Amino acid sequence: MRVLLWIAAIAVLAGAGRAAEPVVAYTITNIGADASEISASLTGAPGDAARGRALYGGEARAGCPACHGAPGAVGETAPAPDLAGVGARLSAGAIRLWIVAPAAIDPATAMPAYYAAGQRGEADDPLYGGPALTAAEIEDLVAYLAALGDPG
Ligand code: HEC
Repeated sequence: MRVLLWIAAIAVLAGAGRAAEPVVAYTITNIGADASEISASLTGAPGDAARGRALYGGEARAGCPACHGAPGAVGETAPAPDLAGVGARLSAGAIRLWIVAPAAIDPATAMPAYYAAGQRGEADDPLYGGPALTAAEIEDLVAYLAALGDPG
C-alpha cells in the first residue's frame, strides 16, 4: 500500500512538471503622476540578460523585433519605439509592466500583453493554457532591456 502511494505521488509530480505554470499574482504600483510599474520580480529573482537578449532576437518566439526592430538599428523603420537606451528612460519595473500588461499603462496601445492565462492555445503545447511568456522569460527580457543604457 505504501509503495502504491509513492508511485501515485511521483506520477502527480512528474505531470505537474509539464503543466502550464500558473500566472503569478503581481502588484502594479504608482511611481509618479503618469507612471506605474511592477516593482517586484515575477520569479522573486533577477533574470539573465544574455538569455533575454537571445529571446528578444528570436523573432518567432517573443516577436518583439517585428514591431520594435533591433535596439539602435540605424535606418530601420519600426512601428514601435526603438528600445535603445530604454533602461535609461524606464525603471526595470516599468519595463516589466510594459511586457506583462501594457494596457495598464496605455489602454489604446498596440503593444501586446505577454503574461495572461490562456494565451497559449495549441493543444499540443506543453505549456497549453499558460501565458505567452513564462515569468522567468519575462525576467530575462527585463534584465536585458534594463541594461540597455543611454546610447549617448
Ligand atoms: C505588435 C507590435 C508590438 C510587439 C510585438 C511588441 N511591442 Fe512593445 N510596444 C509596441 C508599441 C506600439 C509601443 C508603444 C506603446 C504606446 O505608447 O502605447 C510599445 C512599447 C514598449 C515598451 C515601452 C517603450 C518606451 O520607450 O516607452 C517596451 C519596454 C516594450 N514595448 C517592450 C516590448 C518587448 C520586450 C516585446 C516582446 C516581448 C514587445 N515590446 C513586443 C508594440 C509592440
